[in-house]
Parts: sequence; C-alpha cells; structure tokens
Amino acid sequence: MTYPTGRPATWFVTGASRGLGLELVTQLLERGDNVAATTRSVERLTASLDGVDTARLLPLAVNLAHAGEVTRAIEATKERFGGLDVVVNNAGYGFLGAVEEVSDREAREMFDVQIFGVWNVLRSVLPGFRENRAGHIINVSSIVGLVPFPGWGLYGAGKAALESLTESLAGEVQEHGIRVNLIEPGYMRTDFLRPVSLGLPTSTTDAYPAVREMVQQHLDMPGSQLGDPAKAATAIIAVAVGGDAPLRQLLGSDSLGLAEARVRSIESEIEASRALAVTTDIRSV
Ligand SMILES: NC(=O)c1ccc[n+]([C@@H]2O[C@H](COP(=O)([O-])OP(=O)(O)OC[C@H]3O[C@@H](n4cnc5c(N)ncnc54)[C@H](OP(=O)(O)O)[C@@H]3O)[C@@H](O)[C@H]2O)c1
Repeated sequence: MTYPTGRPATWFVTGASRGLGLELVTQLLERGDNVAATTRSVERLTASLDGVDTARLLPLAVNLAHAGEVTRAIEATKERFGGLDVVVNNAGYGFLGAVEEVSDREAREMFDVQIFGVWNVLRSVLPGFRENRAGHIINVSSIVGLVPFPGWGLYGAGKAALESLTESLAGEVQEHGIRVNLIEPGYMRTDFLRPVSLGLPTSTTDAYPAVREMVQQHLDMPGSQLGDPAKAATAIIAVAVGGDAPLRQLLGSDSLGLAEARVRSIESEIEASRALAVTTDIRSV
C-alpha cells in the first residue's frame, strides 16, 4: 500500500481541462490532495475549475510529446509539493476511420499522445519512484484497448500498445514497490465524441459504408453515453486509495460485457488454433 496516509497525496494528471481529467482534478482538489495538472491550455483549465478551491493546484502547459517539457513539469511538481505519489496518464482522444483511411501524420499524432507522451512521463517519474520504493502509475486505456472494432483501428492500436507496455511495466516495477493499473472505461459522457475532441480522417473512400454508418452513429451519441465521468473519476481515486484493484480495472457495465465476450471469443480462437499450432514445433508433441 503506497498511497500516503496522514498527509495529502500529490497527483500528476495529464489532459485535465475536459472530461474525465477535469472531473478527477476537481475531486482531488475537493478532497484536499495536491494536483499537478497538464493541459494544452491553462486558460481553459482554470476557467473550467471556476468555483473550485485551486490553492493546491499546479496547472502546467505541457506538450506531452516533448520529453523536455514533461521532465520540467515533473520537476516543477516535486518542487512545489515536495514529492509525487500518483501519476494518471489520462490525455487521449478518439479517432474514427477505416485503417486504410488513416494518414501517416494522423497515426503519428495519435501515438505521440497515447504512447510516446506516456513513455516520456514514465521515464521522468520512475527513477524517483524506485528511489522512494513507492508510487502509483494509473494509465487510462479504453475497453477498445482490449476489444478491437472496425473503424477504431488507430485509436485501438494506441490503446492496445498502451495496455501492453503497462502490463510489462507492472511486472518490472512490482519489486520496486511501485503499483500500476490500467483503467478500461466504456462510453463516458464527456467531450470524447464531440467535434472538439474526436479525430476523423482528412480523406475517406466510398469503400467502407459500414464504417461511415458507425461513425455517424457515434457523432449522434454525445449526451446519451452510459458512463458518468464523475463516477469514473471517483473509481480512479478508489483504485489509488484502495490498493487492491486488479491490473485492468474495467469501468461501466458496457465495458464489463464487452470484456467478458472478448474472453469467450479468445478462448474459442485458441481452441480453433490448437490442431495447427502443435504441428510447428521441431519435435511434434
Ligand atoms: N469518453 C469515453 O467514452 C472514453 C472511453 C474510453 C476511454 N476514454 C479515455 O479517457 C481519457 C479521457 O477522455 P475523455 O473522455 O475525458 O475525453 P475529453 O472530454 O475529450 O477529454 C480528453 C482530454 O485529453 C486531452 N487531450 C485530447 N487530445 C489531446 C492531444 N492531442 N494532446 C494532448 N492532450 C490531449 C485533453 O487535454 P487538454 O485539452 O486539457 O490539453 C482533454 O482534457 C482518454 O484517454 C480517452 O481515450 C474515454
């Protein structure tokens, strides 16, 4: 159990001016914790926190893809609050389009935020966490990181990569007293599917009418998603404070159902693979 008791915890939260990140920062400030919050717009973040006591907030304008900016942000956090306890890699955005339609630039931008940005944060915080034999990394993935869907190839590839690196990390740092969790939400009622956040390919083809239909359904969805971002933020705090959450914490009954179906589908694929799989060893079994 590495969550500090008897003093406010210090959190570093990325992607804080909207949605889940904003809810999390708000609740952390309300419970009296210290929060370093990264955003592309400090102005938007502080405006969004109107009415919240921000005495324990360190707002930071950070381009997560820039290693130097991330390192300076972590140093500023430790300087202001005297340490760091919990990191939440939350920044991310959706992208809906067929695999063939994703440009090289669009793919690289997604990985800049969801993978290289997270890696920059990890490189900056892990040495200090190891030294202290304490610390908690919480990476916000998605049920799409576990369950791929047509039209979600780029977003899912980013989240699946995040899941893989997180699972490896968890195994590596356990002996250093560092905790690691993945958060896998289903649909949440945030700006995620609104034009202000959602990415779409700059060029599309007529070859994927099912993807176009799926995209339209999602553009019509804002306001009707199942998940409450305030409850999701509370759940993330519970993961940090409780200390006994599974590596992958699903959020939302939609996420739970999809994960269960995915396990059944993988089990049946393993069975269907069995006969051919055992034919390729040097010595047959
Ligand atoms: N909402 C859902 O249905 C859902 C489902 C599963 C997983 N998720 C994941 O939950 C996390 C939070 O998303 P949300 O639902 O809260 O969406 P949101 O309301 O659109 O907020 C996304 C946050 O991520 C940051 N962000 C977006 N694009 C960015 C970029 N290009 N570079 C840096 N930061 C960027 C933004 O930070 P600033 O604007 O402050 O810079 C923003 O505060 C994401 O990782 C998302 O993939 C969401």
